[in-house]
Amino acid sequence: SVNPFQLKNGILHAENVPLTRIADEFGTPTYVYSRAALESAYTRFAAGFDGQDHLVCFAVKSNPSLAVLNLFARLGAGFDIVSGGELARVLAAGGDPAKVVFSGVGKTETEMETALNAGIFCFNVESASELDRLNDVAGRLGKTAPVSLRVNPNVDAKTHPYISTGLKNNKFGVAYEDAFNLYQHAASLPNIAVHGVDCHIGSQLTELSPFMDAFDRVLALVDQLEAEGIRVAHIDLGGGIGICYADETPPDFAAYAAAMLQKLGDRKVKLVFEPGRALVGNAGALITKVEYLKHTEAKNFAIVDAAMNDLMRPALYDAYHEIAAVVPATDPSSAQVYEIVGPVCESGDFLGHDRKLALQQGDLLAVLSAGAYGMSMSSNYNTRPRAAEVMVDGDKTHLIRERETVAQLFALEKILG
Ligand code: LLP
Repeated sequence: SVNPFQLKNGILHAENVPLTRIADEFGTPTYVYSRAALESAYTRFAAGFDGQDHLVCFAVKSNPSLAVLNLFARLGAGFDIVSGGELARVLAAGGDPAKVVFSGVGKTETEMETALNAGIFCFNVESASELDRLNDVAGRLGKTAPVSLRVNPNVDAKTHPYISTGLKNNKFGVAYEDAFNLYQHAASLPNIAVHGVDCHIGSQLTELSPFMDAFDRVLALVDQLEAEGIRVAHIDLGGGIGICYADETPPDFAAYAAAMLQKLGDRKVKLVFEPGRALVGNAGALITKVEYLKHTEAKNFAIVDAAMNDLMRPALYDAYHEIAAVVPATDPSSAQVYEIVGPVCESGDFLGHDRKLALQQGDLLAVLSAGAYGMSMSSNYNTRPRAAEVMVDGDKTHLIRERETVAQLFALEKILG
């Protein structure tokens, strides 16, 4: 895989752009993405399915930047959305609605209408009541809704409980045991057309076996359905392939594709995937500046200008992100162990624990592997304007999202007259 963040002449670069230049031009904190890394990830993922009818639907929630969506759309990607807002972004970015799958447990009537009018590829339906609502909404519009049921194959994804979704005891999907009956009901509804079977078992998976187990269960259901005359045109295996944050060894794309294709055998069915993190995670970094060093009896703190509102994963999941000096000290003997923390008024506001770095005030740091679920989960907590986003392409930089201004943060508010 391509790591676009490399030291050149003692300065960390994104492709051919020194991160110091990005900080000078655009300030900090700033998210930086590499076009080459994004495109290479998509191309490598899709290449595994050459010769097999397939659709790669990038999971928009992992990085909904219009510029990112647009690059994937140009490569022929589809998109996995979970809201009307994400559908609007896909359309604004030039995405093809006929390649959109709509996941999520809480689709509103308005969202269903918009998606039906746009002509999306498939609704991934997550409950019996959603199926009935979709049938009603489609009937009102004089349309037929293409549907997969998201089934819960009940396999252990062996990942963080907050991002594991394939087990019985969570809100996603329909129980495997109930799926067959619900499919029969779906097939009987006048404004529903059964197109596929869908599953998504969790995120940041680092082993192949849970994907294989889930696929086995899905294929058993497909056999059962086809025996009953319910034709399954596509199988959606969701997303979830992990990336390397520290020392994980997730399956590489080629191994994943080979394993899935081997299981599929000679069945004639389209395969749909919903990768998010694996396409964008390692293509992005968050650049931040050390505001203060604070040495206390118990700990050394490096207080940086990025915080949990910019990158929530450490605070929320205790997630690890590598943190690298943009200009590593030439004399590393002054390195000390630091807590890397932000300015937000929460003890949970940290980006990294126990990082050995040689630091001075004003130094730049890069929080790596921040391209997925970074900016997309950011907030304005503490009335902090959201970071700028920059796309690097060779030796060029593009400001793909301006830094928010404080005025924008309360522009929609009013005091009592
Ligand atoms: N499809 C569905 C239905 C999903 O719910 C998700 C992610 C994906 C695809 C994409 O999964 P990926 O390939 O990115 O693993 N905020 C958490 C991750 C939450 C994932 C939610 N669902 C984090 O920062 O780790």
